[in-house]
Amino acid sequence: MPETARRDVTVDVLLTPDHAARALRADAASGLRASPKWLAPKWFYDTRGSELFEEITRLPEYYPTRAEREILHTRSADIAAQTSAHTLVELGSGSSEKTRLLLDALHDHGTLRQFVPLDVSESALRDAISAIAEDYPELTVHGVVGDFTAHLDDLPGEAPRLVAFLGGTIGNLIPAERAVFYRSIRDVLEPGEYLLLGTDLVKSPDVLVPAYDDAAGVTAEFNRNVLRVLNRELGADFDVDAFTHVAVWNAEQEWIEMRLRAMREMRVRIPELDLVATFAKGEELGTEVSAKFRREVVETELAAAGFALQSWWTDSGDRFALSLARAH
Ligand code: AVJ
Repeated sequence: MPETARRDVTVDVLLTPDHAARALRADAASGLRASPKWLAPKWFYDTRGSELFEEITRLPEYYPTRAEREILHTRSADIAAQTSAHTLVELGSGSSEKTRLLLDALHDHGTLRQFVPLDVSESALRDAISAIAEDYPELTVHGVVGDFTAHLDDLPGEAPRLVAFLGGTIGNLIPAERAVFYRSIRDVLEPGEYLLLGTDLVKSPDVLVPAYDDAAGVTAEFNRNVLRVLNRELGADFDVDAFTHVAVWNAEQEWIEMRLRAMREMRVRIPELDLVATFAKGEELGTEVSAKFRREVVETELAAAGFALQSWWTDSGDRFALSLARAH
Protein backbone atom coordinates (compact mmCIF):
# COMPACT_ATOMS: atom_id res chain seq x y z
CA MET A 1 0.00 0.00 0.00
CA PRO A 2 1.81 3.13 -1.20
CA GLU A 3 0.17 5.52 1.29
CA THR A 4 1.57 3.72 4.33
CA ALA A 5 5.06 4.18 2.92
CA ARG A 6 4.79 7.85 3.84
CA ARG A 7 5.19 8.81 7.47
CA ASP A 8 2.57 11.56 7.25
CA VAL A 9 -0.29 9.47 5.87
CA THR A 10 -2.52 7.61 8.30
CA VAL A 11 -5.93 5.96 8.12
CA ASP A 12 -8.11 5.44 11.20
CA VAL A 13 -10.78 2.81 10.80
CA LEU A 14 -13.63 3.83 13.11
CA LEU A 15 -16.18 1.89 11.14
CA THR A 16 -14.77 -1.64 11.20
CA PRO A 17 -16.25 -4.25 8.84
CA ASP A 18 -17.73 -5.93 11.92
CA HIS A 19 -19.35 -2.73 13.17
CA ALA A 20 -20.72 -2.00 9.68
CA ALA A 21 -22.11 -5.53 9.39
CA ARG A 22 -23.97 -5.14 12.69
CA ALA A 23 -25.34 -1.75 11.68
CA LEU A 24 -26.52 -3.18 8.35
CA ARG A 25 -28.24 -6.07 10.12
CA ALA A 26 -30.03 -3.69 12.50
CA ASP A 27 -31.06 -1.32 9.67
CA ALA A 28 -32.27 -4.12 7.41
CA ALA A 29 -34.12 -5.87 10.24
CA SER A 30 -36.17 -2.79 11.08
CA GLY A 31 -36.45 -1.42 7.53
CA LEU A 32 -37.66 -4.66 5.94
CA ARG A 33 -40.26 -5.18 8.68
CA ALA A 34 -41.54 -1.60 8.37
CA SER A 35 -44.38 -0.46 6.18
CA PRO A 36 -43.50 0.93 3.72
CA LYS A 37 -40.20 -0.96 3.60
CA TRP A 38 -37.05 1.18 3.74
CA LEU A 39 -33.25 0.86 3.54
CA ALA A 40 -30.87 3.76 4.20
CA PRO A 41 -28.84 5.03 1.20
CA LYS A 42 -25.49 4.55 2.95
CA TRP A 43 -25.79 0.84 2.10
CA PHE A 44 -25.39 1.61 -1.62
CA TYR A 45 -21.71 2.26 -1.20
CA ASP A 46 -19.82 -1.02 -1.29
CA THR A 47 -16.93 -1.09 -3.78
CA ARG A 48 -19.27 -1.67 -6.74
CA GLY A 49 -21.76 0.93 -5.49
CA SER A 50 -19.05 3.56 -5.11
CA GLU A 51 -17.90 2.82 -8.68
CA LEU A 52 -21.46 3.10 -9.97
CA PHE A 53 -21.85 6.44 -8.21
CA GLU A 54 -18.65 7.70 -9.90
CA GLU A 55 -20.22 6.63 -13.20
CA ILE A 56 -23.42 8.53 -12.33
CA THR A 57 -21.40 11.71 -11.86
CA ARG A 58 -20.33 11.48 -15.52
CA LEU A 59 -23.86 10.99 -16.92
CA PRO A 60 -25.28 13.76 -19.13
CA GLU A 61 -28.46 13.92 -16.98
CA TYR A 62 -26.67 14.11 -13.63
CA TYR A 63 -25.77 17.82 -13.44
CA PRO A 64 -25.00 18.29 -9.68
CA THR A 65 -21.36 17.18 -9.83
CA ARG A 66 -20.53 19.43 -12.78
CA ALA A 67 -22.48 22.37 -11.36
CA GLU A 68 -20.69 22.11 -8.02
CA ARG A 69 -17.32 21.76 -9.75
CA GLU A 70 -18.04 24.95 -11.70
CA ILE A 71 -18.70 26.82 -8.44
CA LEU A 72 -15.57 25.43 -6.80
CA HIS A 73 -13.58 26.40 -9.86
CA THR A 74 -14.77 29.98 -9.65
CA ARG A 75 -14.79 30.37 -5.86
CA SER A 76 -11.96 28.28 -4.38
CA ALA A 77 -9.57 31.20 -4.12
CA ASP A 78 -12.26 33.22 -2.35
CA ILE A 79 -12.96 30.29 0.02
CA ALA A 80 -9.25 30.02 0.83
CA ALA A 81 -8.99 33.76 1.44
CA GLN A 82 -12.08 33.85 3.68
CA THR A 83 -11.13 30.83 5.78
CA SER A 84 -7.29 30.74 5.81
CA ALA A 85 -7.80 27.09 6.77
CA HIS A 86 -4.88 24.92 7.90
CA THR A 87 -6.94 21.75 7.67
CA LEU A 88 -9.42 20.68 5.05
CA VAL A 89 -11.82 18.05 6.42
CA GLU A 90 -13.97 16.37 3.82
CA LEU A 91 -17.03 14.38 4.93
CA GLY A 92 -18.28 11.66 2.61
CA SER A 93 -15.26 12.34 0.47
CA GLY A 94 -15.71 9.57 -2.11
CA SER A 95 -13.10 10.01 -4.80
CA SER A 96 -11.99 13.43 -3.45
CA GLU A 97 -11.78 14.65 -7.01
CA LYS A 98 -13.39 18.06 -6.49
CA THR A 99 -11.39 18.42 -3.32
CA ARG A 100 -8.29 19.14 -5.34
CA LEU A 101 -9.71 22.52 -6.31
CA LEU A 102 -9.90 23.39 -2.60
CA LEU A 103 -6.51 21.89 -1.78
CA ASP A 104 -4.89 23.84 -4.62
CA ALA A 105 -6.50 27.09 -3.53
CA LEU A 106 -5.53 26.64 0.13
CA HIS A 107 -2.03 25.68 -0.93
CA ASP A 108 -1.73 28.79 -3.13
CA HIS A 109 -3.08 30.89 -0.26
CA GLY A 110 -0.25 29.47 1.84
CA THR A 111 -2.22 28.07 4.78
CA LEU A 112 -2.81 24.40 3.90
CA ARG A 113 -1.20 21.76 6.14
CA GLN A 114 -3.56 18.84 6.62
CA PHE A 115 -6.23 16.95 4.76
CA VAL A 116 -8.73 14.80 6.66
CA PRO A 117 -11.03 12.80 4.36
CA LEU A 118 -13.80 10.72 5.99
CA ASP A 119 -15.80 8.10 4.13
CA VAL A 120 -17.78 4.93 4.86
CA SER A 121 -16.12 3.12 1.98
CA GLU A 122 -12.63 2.01 2.97
CA SER A 123 -11.75 1.11 -0.62
CA ALA A 124 -12.88 4.50 -1.99
CA LEU A 125 -11.04 6.29 0.84
CA ARG A 126 -7.77 4.42 0.31
CA ASP A 127 -7.85 4.99 -3.45
CA ALA A 128 -8.51 8.70 -2.93
CA ILE A 129 -5.76 9.01 -0.33
CA SER A 130 -3.16 7.31 -2.53
CA ALA A 131 -3.91 9.68 -5.37
CA ILE A 132 -3.91 12.81 -3.18
CA ALA A 133 -0.80 11.81 -1.21
CA GLU A 134 1.11 11.30 -4.42
CA ASP A 135 0.16 14.68 -5.85
CA TYR A 136 0.55 16.68 -2.61
CA PRO A 137 3.80 15.39 -1.11
CA GLU A 138 3.94 18.03 1.64
CA LEU A 139 0.43 17.44 2.86
CA THR A 140 -0.31 15.51 6.05
CA VAL A 141 -3.19 13.18 5.24
CA HIS A 142 -5.25 11.68 8.04
CA GLY A 143 -8.03 9.51 6.58
CA VAL A 144 -10.96 8.27 8.64
CA VAL A 145 -13.13 5.32 7.65
CA GLY A 146 -16.33 6.36 9.35
CA ASP A 147 -19.96 7.35 9.19
CA PHE A 148 -20.41 11.12 9.08
CA THR A 149 -23.55 10.81 11.21
CA ALA A 150 -21.70 8.89 13.94
CA HIS A 151 -17.98 9.63 13.92
CA LEU A 152 -17.57 13.37 14.21
CA ASP A 153 -16.71 13.53 17.92
CA ASP A 154 -12.98 13.50 17.44
CA LEU A 155 -12.35 15.32 14.24
CA PRO A 156 -8.58 15.39 13.79
CA GLY A 157 -6.71 18.34 12.35
CA GLU A 158 -5.18 21.59 13.36
CA ALA A 159 -7.39 24.70 13.55
CA PRO A 160 -8.61 26.64 11.73
CA ARG A 161 -10.45 23.85 9.95
CA LEU A 162 -12.70 23.98 6.94
CA VAL A 163 -15.21 21.13 6.96
CA ALA A 164 -16.46 20.43 3.45
CA PHE A 165 -19.62 18.43 2.91
CA LEU A 166 -20.04 18.47 -0.83
CA GLY A 167 -22.06 16.83 -3.56
CA GLY A 168 -25.46 17.53 -2.07
CA THR A 169 -25.22 14.52 0.24
CA ILE A 170 -26.86 16.60 2.99
CA GLY A 171 -30.04 15.98 0.95
CA ASN A 172 -29.96 12.31 1.98
CA LEU A 173 -30.96 13.41 5.48
CA ILE A 174 -34.51 14.38 6.40
CA PRO A 175 -34.94 17.74 8.22
CA ALA A 176 -34.80 16.30 11.76
CA GLU A 177 -31.62 14.37 10.88
CA ARG A 178 -30.10 17.48 9.31
CA ALA A 179 -30.66 19.45 12.51
CA VAL A 180 -28.77 16.82 14.53
CA PHE A 181 -26.03 16.59 11.92
CA TYR A 182 -25.40 20.37 11.68
CA ARG A 183 -25.34 20.54 15.47
CA SER A 184 -22.82 17.70 15.69
CA ILE A 185 -20.51 19.46 13.24
CA ARG A 186 -20.90 22.72 15.11
CA ASP A 187 -20.08 20.93 18.39
CA VAL A 188 -16.66 19.76 17.16
CA LEU A 189 -15.70 23.17 15.78
CA GLU A 190 -14.39 26.24 17.56
CA PRO A 191 -15.83 29.67 16.79
CA GLY A 192 -14.25 31.00 13.62
CA GLU A 193 -13.94 27.61 11.92
CA TYR A 194 -15.95 26.92 8.78
CA LEU A 195 -18.44 24.63 7.08
CA LEU A 196 -18.60 24.49 3.28
CA LEU A 197 -21.88 22.89 2.25
CA GLY A 198 -23.02 21.77 -1.21
CA THR A 199 -26.77 21.71 -1.82
CA ASP A 200 -28.74 20.86 -4.92
CA LEU A 201 -31.50 23.40 -5.55
CA VAL A 202 -35.24 23.06 -6.13
CA LYS A 203 -35.96 23.10 -9.85
CA SER A 204 -38.31 21.60 -12.44
CA PRO A 205 -39.00 17.86 -12.13
CA ASP A 206 -38.26 17.76 -15.87
CA VAL A 207 -34.62 18.25 -14.93
CA LEU A 208 -34.62 16.53 -11.54
CA VAL A 209 -36.27 13.24 -12.45
CA PRO A 210 -33.97 12.34 -15.38
CA ALA A 211 -30.97 13.09 -13.13
CA TYR A 212 -32.18 10.20 -10.96
CA ASP A 213 -33.50 8.02 -13.79
CA ASP A 214 -30.94 8.22 -16.58
CA ALA A 215 -31.40 6.78 -20.06
CA ALA A 216 -28.39 4.45 -19.75
CA GLY A 217 -29.80 2.84 -16.61
CA VAL A 218 -26.75 3.46 -14.41
CA THR A 219 -28.82 4.90 -11.55
CA ALA A 220 -31.13 1.87 -11.78
CA GLU A 221 -28.09 -0.40 -11.40
CA PHE A 222 -26.83 1.72 -8.50
CA ASN A 223 -30.21 1.44 -6.79
CA ARG A 224 -30.50 -2.32 -7.31
CA ASN A 225 -26.94 -2.77 -6.06
CA VAL A 226 -28.25 -2.41 -2.50
CA LEU A 227 -30.06 -5.74 -2.97
CA ARG A 228 -26.77 -7.33 -4.01
CA VAL A 229 -25.25 -5.96 -0.81
CA LEU A 230 -28.03 -7.66 1.20
CA ASN A 231 -27.56 -10.91 -0.70
CA ARG A 232 -23.84 -10.93 -0.03
CA GLU A 233 -23.78 -9.58 3.53
CA LEU A 234 -26.92 -11.18 4.94
CA GLY A 235 -27.21 -14.30 2.78
CA ALA A 236 -30.49 -12.97 1.33
CA ASP A 237 -31.92 -14.35 -1.91
CA PHE A 238 -33.31 -11.20 -3.55
CA ASP A 239 -33.94 -11.76 -7.27
CA VAL A 240 -32.28 -8.45 -8.13
CA ASP A 241 -33.61 -8.32 -11.69
CA ALA A 242 -37.19 -8.66 -10.45
CA PHE A 243 -37.05 -5.10 -9.04
CA THR A 244 -37.43 -1.97 -11.14
CA HIS A 245 -35.92 1.38 -10.37
CA VAL A 246 -38.35 4.18 -9.49
CA ALA A 247 -37.48 7.89 -9.09
CA VAL A 248 -40.24 10.36 -8.19
CA TRP A 249 -40.32 14.05 -7.27
CA ASN A 250 -42.14 14.66 -3.99
CA ALA A 251 -43.29 18.25 -4.53
CA GLU A 252 -44.52 18.69 -0.98
CA GLN A 253 -41.27 17.66 0.73
CA GLU A 254 -39.18 18.98 -2.17
CA TRP A 255 -37.13 15.82 -2.46
CA ILE A 256 -36.49 13.05 -4.96
CA GLU A 257 -37.43 9.60 -3.72
CA MET A 258 -35.76 6.50 -5.05
CA ARG A 259 -37.48 3.18 -4.61
CA LEU A 260 -37.25 -0.41 -5.84
CA ARG A 261 -40.55 -1.86 -7.06
CA ALA A 262 -41.21 -5.60 -6.93
CA MET A 263 -42.47 -6.67 -10.35
CA ARG A 264 -44.11 -9.80 -8.94
CA GLU A 265 -45.11 -11.23 -5.61
CA MET A 266 -42.01 -12.45 -3.77
CA ARG A 267 -40.83 -14.17 -0.63
CA VAL A 268 -37.25 -13.21 0.17
CA ARG A 269 -35.31 -15.29 2.67
CA ILE A 270 -32.81 -13.39 4.81
CA PRO A 271 -31.16 -16.06 6.94
CA GLU A 272 -28.89 -13.69 8.89
CA LEU A 273 -32.00 -11.87 10.13
CA ASP A 274 -34.13 -14.94 10.60
CA LEU A 275 -36.60 -13.17 8.37
CA VAL A 276 -38.71 -13.93 5.34
CA ALA A 277 -39.71 -10.61 3.77
CA THR A 278 -42.79 -10.79 1.59
CA PHE A 279 -43.40 -8.36 -1.26
CA ALA A 280 -46.75 -7.89 -2.96
CA LYS A 281 -46.63 -7.34 -6.70
CA GLY A 282 -45.90 -3.63 -7.19
CA GLU A 283 -44.77 -3.11 -3.60
CA GLU A 284 -41.98 -0.57 -3.20
CA LEU A 285 -38.89 -0.52 -1.02
CA GLY A 286 -37.66 3.04 -0.32
CA THR A 287 -33.89 3.43 -0.74
CA GLU A 288 -33.10 7.16 -0.83
CA VAL A 289 -34.45 10.64 -0.44
CA SER A 290 -32.42 13.41 -2.04
CA ALA A 291 -33.73 16.73 -0.79
CA LYS A 292 -33.43 19.89 -2.89
CA PHE A 293 -32.97 23.26 -1.22
CA ARG A 294 -33.79 26.94 -1.22
CA ARG A 295 -31.46 29.56 0.22
CA GLU A 296 -33.80 30.49 3.10
CA VAL A 297 -33.99 26.86 4.25
CA VAL A 298 -30.21 26.43 4.24
CA GLU A 299 -29.62 29.74 6.01
CA THR A 300 -32.27 29.08 8.68
CA GLU A 301 -31.15 25.53 9.41
CA LEU A 302 -27.50 26.59 9.67
CA ALA A 303 -28.37 29.51 11.93
CA ALA A 304 -30.31 27.17 14.24
CA ALA A 305 -27.13 25.09 14.63
CA GLY A 306 -24.84 28.05 15.38
CA PHE A 307 -23.50 28.88 11.92
CA ALA A 308 -23.69 32.24 10.18
CA LEU A 309 -23.99 32.02 6.41
CA GLN A 310 -21.08 34.06 5.11
CA SER A 311 -21.29 33.36 1.37
CA TRP A 312 -23.82 31.74 -0.96
CA TRP A 313 -22.67 30.91 -4.47
CA THR A 314 -24.55 29.23 -7.32
CA ASP A 315 -23.42 27.91 -10.71
CA SER A 316 -24.21 29.83 -13.89
CA GLY A 317 -27.35 27.73 -14.39
CA ASP A 318 -28.60 28.34 -10.82
CA ARG A 319 -28.91 24.60 -10.31
CA PHE A 320 -26.65 24.05 -7.31
CA ALA A 321 -25.34 26.13 -4.40
CA LEU A 322 -22.28 26.24 -2.19
CA SER A 323 -22.64 27.82 1.23
CA LEU A 324 -19.74 29.00 3.34
CA ALA A 325 -20.82 29.23 6.98
CA ARG A 326 -18.84 30.38 9.99
CA ALA A 327 -19.19 28.78 13.41
CA HIS A 328 -19.96 31.36 16.09
C1 AVJ B 1 -24.19 11.34 -3.45
C2 AVJ B 1 -26.13 11.57 -2.14
C3 AVJ B 1 -25.39 13.39 -3.46
O1 AVJ B 1 -28.46 12.25 -3.85
O2 AVJ B 1 -27.73 12.98 -5.75
C4 AVJ B 1 -27.10 9.89 -7.17
C5 AVJ B 1 -26.59 10.03 -4.66
N1 AVJ B 1 -28.45 8.88 -5.85
N2 AVJ B 1 -28.06 9.32 -7.90
C6 AVJ B 1 -27.62 12.28 -4.75
C7 AVJ B 1 -27.36 9.62 -5.86
C8 AVJ B 1 -28.87 8.69 -7.10
C9 AVJ B 1 -26.32 11.49 -4.61
N3 AVJ B 1 -25.52 11.93 -3.41
